[in-house]
Amino acid sequence: MAKSVSTFTCTACGATHKKWAGRCDACGAWNTITEEAPLSQGPGRSLGAAKGRAVPLSGLATEEPPPPRSHSGLAELDRVLGGGLVPGSAVLVGGDPGIGKSTLLLQGAAAFARAGLSAVYISGEEASAQVRMRAGRLGLTDSPVRLGAETNLRNILTTLDREKPDLAIIDSVQTLWADHVEAAPGSVAQVRAAAHELVTFAKRSGVAIVIVGHVTKDGQIAGPRVVEHMVDTVLYFEGERGHQFRILRSVKNRFGPADEIGVFEMTGAGLAEVANPSALFLSERGQPVPGSAVFAGIEGTRPVLTEVQALVAPSTLASPRRTVVGLDSGRVSTIIAVLEARCGIPFAGLDVFLNVAGGMRVNEPAADLAIAGALLSAREDSALPPEAVLFGEISLSGALRPVAQAENRLKEAQKLGFSQAILPEGQKVEGLGGMGVTRIADLTGFVGEVFGAG
Ligand code: TYD
Ligand code: MG
Repeated sequence: MAKSVSTFTCTACGATHKKWAGRCDACGAWNTITEEAPLSQGPGRSLGAAKGRAVPLSGLATEEPPPPRSHSGLAELDRVLGGGLVPGSAVLVGGDPGIGKSTLLLQGAAAFARAGLSAVYISGEEASAQVRMRAGRLGLTDSPVRLGAETNLRNILTTLDREKPDLAIIDSVQTLWADHVEAAPGSVAQVRAAAHELVTFAKRSGVAIVIVGHVTKDGQIAGPRVVEHMVDTVLYFEGERGHQFRILRSVKNRFGPADEIGVFEMTGAGLAEVANPSALFLSERGQPVPGSAVFAGIEGTRPVLTEVQALVAPSTLASPRRTVVGLDSGRVSTIIAVLEARCGIPFAGLDVFLNVAGGMRVNEPAADLAIAGALLSAREDSALPPEAVLFGEISLSGALRPVAQAENRLKEAQKLGFSQAILPEGQKVEGLGGMGVTRIADLTGFVGEVFGAG
């Protein structure tokens, strides 16, 4: 019989290779290939149809009511979960080390416990005394959360099986050690095995499990991607270090809309909910300055206004700087290229810095017009009308395309005191309610309309 050999799998794209390499041929990622133990196989290669057990099949119509959801009372958390916690669901919360995951989940566990759920918080990173100290600082000591400190997965599962809580927090998956897998804690094999065991347990027992995962340097949870597809819900906790704002974003949710965000502020006494993020993200705006554009965006089901800031300065470098924070840099390069090619406005020899105020990240193509507005305003050294919001997608021809949910964007803008909107010509909007609207067909028209040239 042929000796079974290990396979080598890319943790980024899942491609398998015969031998280890520094770079994956399939996706081009570096240092993502890891060795996997061979699968043990019996003499027969294929599964016979006779040996299994028939699974009962059923129709699509259901008499079962939708799963009851539990609410923590933290509105920002409940919304990102899709409207509350579903029993037996598995949730992954990822984020950079030190961003505040443990703080968020301790506060979340305490809130659920206060709401009547039995909640268990198991830390593999800190001793119970340390977690207790933090709870004291956060003013949570009266909440009936039960703490445990353990890294052995078998012990954790035994505990959960005995206690049968409604909610269990496991902080973090990288510290777990499954003794049936021969690999170091934090390795792909361990993380995968531990997550698999926890998810299976959640489904079987009805215990909702929240797994914390640290994001590694390359932006993926160690044991990358392997955990994401196993769980029902993937949340990322993000924010800029040195900024107090934190955003909890759902990137996958089997029980609700993805791309929903919850906004928090890190204070001396833990995370505080931010009910009106638009007001917060715009709070640092002072006098109208060149390079500032207010984008009326949509995050999940909620409109959020953000300020796009640009600085354009002569460069001393052969290839000028393009520094982009909080926006897709590829998108920014495209917009610069469109401005150059379609409007004849060169950016060669100029350093460009772009940023979204408050540490927010904006991924919507609808932000294109605000990005172009900020860039042009900075370049022309002329402020945009301070009472105006912008939105619209820019095509490669320079034409402006309408975007979704214009009414919601405008309503939010009006609520925050904006009286003007600059938007695509083809945009259908019903019930403008006193908002002044400037309709723009393409970027050349925008330059002419707003900067009086073009
Ligand atoms: P933590 O929740 O330990 O992060 P993670 O679990 O994601 O690694 O948060 C650590 C940071 O949060 C730490 O730098 C201090 C800060 N912090 C506050 O500012 N206020 C607080 O009340 C707490 C508990 C933490
Ligand atoms: Mg932590």
